[in-house]
Amino acid sequence: MIADLIVYNIGKLYTPYLTPPLHGEDMSKIEVIDDAFVAVRDGLILDLGNHKYKKYISKETTLIDARQMIVCPGFIDSHTHLVHAGSREDEYARLRSGIPYLEILKAGGGILDTVDKTRKASFEHLYKMAYQALDEMMLYGVTTVEAKSGYGLNIETEVKQLEVVKKLYQHHPIHLVSTYMGAHAVPSEFKDRKEAYIEELMGDMDTIKALDLAQAVDVFCETGVFSVSETKRILEKAKALGFQVKIHADEIDALGGAGLGVELGATSVDHLMAISDEDIKKLSQSHTVANLLPGTSFFLNKEYAPARKMIDQNVAVSIAGDFNPGSCPTENFQLIMQLASNKLKMTSEEILTAATINPAYHLQIDHLTGSLAIGKQANLLVIDAPNLNYVLYHFGINHVKHVLIDGKIVVRNRQIVREL
Ligand code: NIG
Ligand code: FE
Repeated sequence: MIADLIVYNIGKLYTPYLTPPLHGEDMSKIEVIDDAFVAVRDGLILDLGNHKYKKYISKETTLIDARQMIVCPGFIDSHTHLVHAGSREDEYARLRSGIPYLEILKAGGGILDTVDKTRKASFEHLYKMAYQALDEMMLYGVTTVEAKSGYGLNIETEVKQLEVVKKLYQHHPIHLVSTYMGAHAVPSEFKDRKEAYIEELMGDMDTIKALDLAQAVDVFCETGVFSVSETKRILEKAKALGFQVKIHADEIDALGGAGLGVELGATSVDHLMAISDEDIKKLSQSHTVANLLPGTSFFLNKEYAPARKMIDQNVAVSIAGDFNPGSCPTENFQLIMQLASNKLKMTSEEILTAATINPAYHLQIDHLTGSLAIGKQANLLVIDAPNLNYVLYHFGINHVKHVLIDGKIVVRNRQIVREL
């Protein structure tokens, strides 16, 4: 069989190889192949390893010399608020002066400020801004992005956000997975009438399902936002409609959102900076993945999720960027990985698992991507580093040289390659 493309002369190829979710110790199990190649045909991995590959070459085969650089699966950013309008640098100054994040939200700012701007923004503007953010993420090695709505808080704007994701899915090389998050905050027009908003949300989920605009439903379970019992009601209905469910849980206060996630069979519970020991235990006995977002702790100057404790107690962990204008305004996924190293005290192998196969598992795309294996999509990175440890050590810069998605070169020599 002839390959369309071969990446050869790879110094070291790193990939998870066990069946996910990888819990605890298994997160360290990464296969490393020296002097490797990857052959691609029809967008999928035809073969890989360190054996002979000349048989796959014809005149039509594109050859990429990796010049002894390293290769790994494309990164999967499994938690972002990709589609939004505007920025909140003024609020950042207030945060730094010590005003709490939840207080700003309570006073009608924070998320509600972005809701206001996103409602007013045109579809085209939102599309353009999100497209640019995806380009930036791709330059840093991200090949799949989960994108949440949640800056509309009315059906019209939530649908607008999700339609933007749908169009991006059709036109941007990055793979997208969408989540409906109408329960991101209570909109100002429902201030002091939360119950009425929840009723509205319940109906809106039927609409989102009928339009087939999201794969999952997410709720911000937090003091002053949605309580554990409200989150439960919303997600029980979501499940009954056939959505996957996930929770922004125990981010600021330890309400027990992670435990609720386990009870509901959530695909992931996210943030977990304030998770209780009891809920760590529940997670370790479940298939719910703990999705940790260290960039948010960094930006909000909060404590970090107890990743070491979780992994040592056999939890399955992933990491994500949480790209959004209020608590983590960055597209730099390598910085997120470096924070996982420095602040979450995760090893390089654990971080690679947490950035590839474990997020692929909780987004339910692990049969397609998240590791390098024959038959999977050829979503891979050529990284200009001598080994994986180096990528986490030399921080704040971009190490990714080339990016392939579905076997196509989408970033070459750190430049985006546009299809004509
Ligand atoms: O994941 N915590 C809630 N939602 C986002 C922040 C959204 C915002 O501040 O605009 C988060 O951190
Ligand atoms: Fe978030």
